[in-house]
Formats: sequence, C-alpha cells, structure tokens
Amino acid sequence: MSTPLKASELREKYLRFFESKGHTQFPSGSLVPYDVTGRLDESLLFNGAGMIQFKPYFRGAAKPSHKRLTTAQKCVRTGDIDIVGDLTHLTFFEMLGNFSFGDYFKKEAIALSWEFITDPQWLGLDPRRVSFTIFEEDDEAYEYWAEWLEKEGIDPATRIFRLDEETNYWPAGSFTKGPPGPCGPNSEMFYWTRGEPPSAPYTRDDWIRDEAASRWLEFWNDVFIQFEWQGELRSPSRPQEGYVKTGMPPLPFRSVDTGMGLERTAAVLGGLTSLYDIDIFQPILRQIEEVVGKNEASTKPERPETPGEEALSSLDPSSLPYRYGSDPAKDVATRIIADHIRTAVFCIADGVLPGNSGRGYVLRRLIRRAVLKGQRGLGIRQPFFHHVYEGVVEAMGDHYRELRERREIIVETLRNEEALFRRTLEAGTEVLQRELSLLSHQSESELPGEIAFRLYDTYGFPLEVTKELCAEAGVEVDEVGYEKALGEAQERSRKGTERATVYGGVESNGLDVPPTVFRGYDEPRTVSHIVAVQELPESQSDPSAESKIKSPYSQTVAIALDQTPFYAESGGQVADTGVIAGEGFEGRVVNVTKRNGVFVHEVVVERDERIKDQRPREETIDQGPETPGGEGLSSLDLSSLPSSLPESLQGLEVEARIDFNRRMRIMRNHTATHLLHAALRQVLGKHVTQAGSYVGPDHLRFDFTHGKPMTPEEVARVEFIVNEQALWNAPVRVYADVPIDEARARGAMALFGEKYGDRVRMIEIADFSRELCGGTHLRSTGEIGLFKITSESSAASGVRRIEAVTGEGAYAWVLEQTGLFYEAASRLRTSPRDVLQAIDRLQDQVRDERRKREKAETALARGDSGGTAETQEIKGVFLWTRKFEGVDPKVAASAVDDAVAQNPNLVALCAVVGERIQLICKAGPAAVAKGAHAGNLIKQAAPIVGGGGGGRPEFATAGGKDASKVDAALAAASAFLDAML
Ligand code: SER
Repeated sequence: MSTPLKASELREKYLRFFESKGHTQFPSGSLVPYDVTGRLDESLLFNGAGMIQFKPYFRGAAKPSHKRLTTAQKCVRTGDIDIVGDLTHLTFFEMLGNFSFGDYFKKEAIALSWEFITDPQWLGLDPRRVSFTIFEEDDEAYEYWAEWLEKEGIDPATRIFRLDEETNYWPAGSFTKGPPGPCGPNSEMFYWTRGEPPSAPYTRDDWIRDEAASRWLEFWNDVFIQFEWQGELRSPSRPQEGYVKTGMPPLPFRSVDTGMGLERTAAVLGGLTSLYDIDIFQPILRQIEEVVGKNEASTKPERPETPGEEALSSLDPSSLPYRYGSDPAKDVATRIIADHIRTAVFCIADGVLPGNSGRGYVLRRLIRRAVLKGQRGLGIRQPFFHHVYEGVVEAMGDHYRELRERREIIVETLRNEEALFRRTLEAGTEVLQRELSLLSHQSESELPGEIAFRLYDTYGFPLEVTKELCAEAGVEVDEVGYEKALGEAQERSRKGTERATVYGGVESNGLDVPPTVFRGYDEPRTVSHIVAVQELPESQSDPSAESKIKSPYSQTVAIALDQTPFYAESGGQVADTGVIAGEGFEGRVVNVTKRNGVFVHEVVVERDERIKDQRPREETIDQGPETPGGEGLSSLDLSSLPSSLPESLQGLEVEARIDFNRRMRIMRNHTATHLLHAALRQVLGKHVTQAGSYVGPDHLRFDFTHGKPMTPEEVARVEFIVNEQALWNAPVRVYADVPIDEARARGAMALFGEKYGDRVRMIEIADFSRELCGGTHLRSTGEIGLFKITSESSAASGVRRIEAVTGEGAYAWVLEQTGLFYEAASRLRTSPRDVLQAIDRLQDQVRDERRKREKAETALARGDSGGTAETQEIKGVFLWTRKFEGVDPKVAASAVDDAVAQNPNLVALCAVVGERIQLICKAGPAAVAKGAHAGNLIKQAAPIVGGGGGGRPEFATAGGKDASKVDAALAAASAFLDAML
C-alpha cells in the first residue's frame, strides 16, 4: 500500500461497510464486562473481545434490536503485560467486529469478509496476498473461500489451510476442553507482508513455516458460533484442572462473531513492523516527548532547583531534546507509557478506579509501572502521567466521547495515583536503604528474596528497580527467593483473578417465572399472587434487628409474586421490609433481591395453616383472628390440604405491604443523596463523581472522587445548600422512560461505570439536580426535613466519604447533641447558656492553680541556703549539695545555675527524686580551674543510685533508680571532689 491506511480511517471504513450491508452500529461495551442486559460477567476482569457483551444474544437469552450489528469494541488483555514495551504487544486495543444473531451464517460471513478485504472501494488488498486457515473438519468454510479464490484464478490449495482447534476454534481449544458456553469453528485471515507472494506449488508446511517467520500476519477472525459446549469441572475445588465434556448440542440458532484488531491490522496493512508507528500513537508519543522536553528544560542549572508542577506545564517547550526513536532504552520506556496511558485512561473513563484488588489493582499496577518508567527510564522528576492523557484525547477523543466527558475524573485520578505512588516510592526507598545498611553491617551481599518481594508487594517496587538500587550498593538480589514468595502470593490470590474462561455461568434466575412487575414507586401495598416459592435453609434467614417477634417455626421461604410494592436492594438503596399475608398464611419480608428481573422476597413464616401435618402451635392459633385471613382456618378442609408449604402457597392471593414508615426514611435519604451529589459538584467541582453509596432508613453514605479532605467551610457550604434546597420544597419529578441520549443532553448524571439501556429513568429536582436512578424518591424536597452531615472521611485513595442523616435521623442526632450539651451544663453546675463562660472560668482557675504551684516550687527550690541544701569547703573549693523531691527537674536545674552564678568557685550537685532519679552537677569556672570536673564527679556518684552518666567539666547529668541511696550519693560527693583537687 502506498500511503498507510490510518487506524481511524480503518475503523470508519469497517463500520461503514457493515452498515451498508444491513448492520446497525452498536456502541462499544464498557471495559468492565457488563453484557447487554446489564449483567456483570464475573468470569472476566476486563472486556477482551467484541462478542463479550453479546453473550446473552448468542444464547437466545435476550433478543437484540437488530440481528446484524457492528462495533468497535474497547478491549483490555493483560496476559502479556510483561512483554509490553516491545513493538507488537498492547494491553489496550480496539476490536472491530460484525455480528449475526441467527441471521446470516458461514457462507455470507465469508462473502462479506472477502468483499471488504478485496474490493478496491474498501481495503482493496491483492487477493494473492491473502490466505486463510480453517478448522480441520470444516469443509464448508473451505468450499466458500475456495469459490472466491477460484474466481481470481488462484489455486485454493495454496491459500486455504486446515489447522486444529487450538487456533481454529473459538474459544481456543474449546472443541475438546471447553469452557462451557457457545462455541464454534473459526477462520483466520492472513496478509503477506514481504515482496512477491508465494505461488504454486505451496503446501501447508510451507505456509506454517512462513507464518512462523511472520511472513503471513493474521488480521481478522471469523467465528461461526453454533454449539453450546457442555461439561462439568473435573474437580470443583480445583477449577484450574478444567472440564470434562458432557455434550455439545447445537444452539437454538447459528451466529457469527468476527474480530479484527484495529491497531494490528492498520500496522500489517501499512507494512509497519511496530504498532507504535500507526497514526493513533503519534499524538501520544509527541505528548511524552513534550513532557520529557519540559522536564529536561526545567532541570537546567539556571532553573530553580525544584520547580513546582505548574512550572512543568508552563515552561517553554521550544527546545525539545528528546525524540522517540533516538535511544533504544528510552524507546522501551516511552512505548510502555504510551500503551499504559491508553489502558489507564479508558479504564478510568469506564469507572475503574485504582485499588488493591481485581480491576482496580490491574489499573494501579499499570499506572505505577508507567510512572516508574517515566521516572527511571526517562528521568521525569515531576508528576507527568496525567499530561500524557492529552495525547490520548487528541488521538481517540472524537470516536470515544467519554474521554472528554470524563476529563476531570481521569486527570484527577491519574494525578492522585501518581502522587500517592511517588510518596510510596520514597517510603520504599527508605526501607530498602535500611535493609542495605543492615546487610553491609553483617557483611552480606545478597538481599533476601522475601524482602525484595515485600518491596514489590507493599511498596510497588518492581524487581528490576530493587535490583538496580541494590546493584548501586554492590548487593545482589536473591531472585529464586523472590520468585518463591511471589508464587506463594499468587497462589493465595488465584481466586478472583482473571480466569481463562470467556463465558460466565448459566444465566437463570433460579425461579423459572416471568419478571416481576414493580409497583412500589407509587403503591405501598398490592394484591398479588404467589408465582413461585422455595424453601430456604434456616441459616439464610436473618431477621433484622428491626423485627423483634420471632417466628415459632423460623421457617424461611423465598417467594416471587406477579407484582410487588417491595423495592429490591439496588443502586445503594436497601430493600424494603414488610408483610406478605393471605388466607391461612402470614410472613415477614426481611429482605428482597432481584434476580434477572424477578423480585425474590425472603420471608420468615409467621403463620401458616395451609398444610395438613401441622405441629400444635397455640401461640399462632391464638393470634389467628387478629391477622387477615385468620378466620379462614375453620373453613379449610384439612384432609385436602397439600403436604408442603411451598406447594400450598403456589398461586395464593396475598396482600403485600411494605413498612411504609421505614420506606419514607429511606426515601428521605435517597432524595437527599441526589441533592448532596449536586451540591458537592457545585462546591468542589465537576470532577466529583459518585463512587458508591448506601441509602438506608437510618442514614446515608456517599462516596465520591475527590483528591483531598474537604475543609470545614466546604462541608458547611454543602450542608447549607442541601438544606436550602429542602426548604424550598421543590417537587421531585420522575421521568420514567426517557431515551438515554435525551437524558444525557439534559445533563443528567449517570452512575459512573454503570451500564444503562437505551431508555432510562431520570429524577429531576428543580433545575438543581438531574440523575439517572431506579430508586424510590420523595414527592418534594421539603419531606427531607433537616439534613445534617455527621462525618467526612477518606474511603479510599482519591475517594472521600460523607455520612449524613435526614428527617427522624437528623432529629435524633439533634436530640443526642443537645442532650450531651445539657449534660455538660449540668456537670459544670451552670445553665446551658452560660456553659462557655463556665468553661473559661474553669480554665482560668486551672491556669492560676498551676502558676501558684510553680511559684511555690521555685521558691522552695531557690529557698534559703539552709534547709536541705548543704555547703562545705574542700581544699578551697565550695561544694553545694541538695536533694529535691517532687519538683520539675527544670526548677532544680535553675537552682543549680543560681548557686554557681553566685559563686564561681563552687561545685553544685543536686538530686531530683521523682519517678526516676536525676543527678545534675555544675562546676563554676574558678572551681574547674582548680581541677573540679562535673562529668567525672557524676560518673562516680551515679552508680551509687543505680545509674550512669557523665559529661563535661562544667556540666553533667545522670539518671538513676534507687531513691534510698540518694543521700549516700550526695554525701559521697565531698570525697570525690577532694580527690580531684
Ligand atoms: N471472539 C473472536 C476473537 O476475539 C472474534 O471476535 O478473536
């Protein structure tokens, strides 16, 4: 190809081609692997292929709006992370795909691929430069490709090759090994990148040799999804041992899934050996060069020693000494940064935040690795990674609008994480320095592997950094020990990390019934029918503290109704509690969960007179007449009753009634949460995004992204705004069914990282707050009552947490606070309004008392020269000794000072007896001139009181323990002094 095809053009061409073939463009799924029904695929950490979000469509579990779709899917695969930095591996890439769900199959899929590849209007590749692999048993695929090749006069035997399931089945190897789920044979497409393409004769062995030598490069994969692979884990406790196949029936219909790696194909077709040479990477590489350039400029001598971050972004970039491609070692670092910034930016835009497990941990590692490469490989001294974001936006922001929409959160998160890591790095360096100096004391020259591992695990030090720092100190690292410690840690964390399966478990709600109609937005009670019942093991019932009545049976059942007023826990809002009652039956609803649209009520049975093997139970029968349906007992013909509770309840008409007071409290907190969210964005900025919430009857908790603690003023301001909104009593408007684009256009805040359908429910409060939300809300803000923030704290790195109360909760809070205050007044023996003066008075008194005491002690210390002070003359020098009890040593020290000040020919020695003993000795200049030495005197006296010490000739101190020997020590001083003179 003469001018290399740009990746962005390839993306557009692909999507346009398939649109022209009756496909509808469908948005990329989130990198967090939610499928089209909004269900999170627990088997994966990240979305790694175009088909992941469509699994329910392939299985027929959900129906697509169109049977032909085409996408550009954001993908993250971290399996090769250690080799990223070379020319051909990436952790983030885009996959182009066309999909048929029970529409066209193999023949047309191959025809579409052929046309896109060879038609001059599209890729226009020379048909002689393309080859195909197919699954060894797939004669149809052979025939379909062959037809096209023959039309071009090419011998199919020189271009179509049969390979096994490892390369030509999707998922790889799934023909025999699984995992369970939809699967099928595939066909891969290859491009000849060197000189003249091979001509006949050309065998399978030739092809395999050339492919291994990278002469043929793969660029596209068509998967013909046809079967449901069925099997069981070989050993349930050891999933890594894989599955035993039990069957492979055909799916209800046949489908097509294709995948073309965008970056790779752009490079292959452009004849480029490095993925980083394609257009998409250029703005990112330029941005890194600029950051390095500014950094180098900022470190020139005439610049201030440590420029602030502002200096880095405002420096004149006119001289950019660093260029990608000029230094192999720096190029590797640059490529790692260029790869990792894309992954990090896209992950954050999809709601992943750095953390210590799962996706958050992968993100954290990527950011840290990039920062480290920037620091050590490129010498960048200031936080820089968030600047590189601009390059990603320039390269990809037009197609992926979320990059611009979420600018604040992305930049803030990158900046915070880098700052955190730089601090961590400092701490880790300190630890390592300590270890190194320890080693040098012990004349050791190898750092133990566990320490290298701890540095890696706790401080985020990659092994190569530890090795580098150790090498500078002439120390080697025990790498075998490191690997061992690492292996053990990996074994421990194996669960919950990325598994190789591409399909999750079987999708089912466990109760084979249609979705429940939720009436609880408007109605606190409904007349419903029980459509499914299951007995639950007793332990599963957890009657909350709120319900004090214990069921005589404590039998718990799961009940599904045709319609329900009970809200099922979701979006932070807790489930409703209440009662389900019908003829001869009453149960307390303690929890409600939603499984694929079915509301499952967890019900503790309070009364059931519907089954024949009744155990005698007077207390419930007594209650009978008071509970609805209780009278029905006499009319029931016991002999015709079914024998199990679930059987007896099936189809029963019941009244379902929520605890409405509790629900009101929940709604107060939920509506207040929306106001709080909007107020936070107003006060702190648009980077504030919800990172989690709890909305219960007693309080609310709201986690949000913000890099530093809020000031008391900010907290007060936010609280004020929410209360102001409550006082205005604005109506809360619910738009039950709006197109998502319209909601977005009206500025509705979407939950970060949440997957929404085409139509959404939007809650609007005046012009102040618009949010997508499925929860239940007040009719107007006045119903909130008082809103009071009770705490502001850190929830995680870069995430703050606010806890608050409303309505009854706020009232209880006020009562508690005023109660404390009244109690304080009463303890101060004053009236509440005089509390502050009373405290002032008390503090004044305490201060006066302290002053008096100090004065008294000082007076005592300086006292007259008589009392306990002794002065005697020894060989023309005066010795003054004194014992102090229970005074501040400072007081004693000043007495010693005074004594010497008054007489330079004096040696003063005192002992302070307190919790410990302290000896203080001072010798005046004249006494020193005659041979007196305070240090030596103390050195001899201290052992007498069981201590030690010493000092200069003029001044010395010592400690001691034995109070009973103080007098002896003071008495011995005269002999010691005598001996010196
Ligand atoms: N699922 C296949 C792949 O990832 C085709 O999209 O290669």
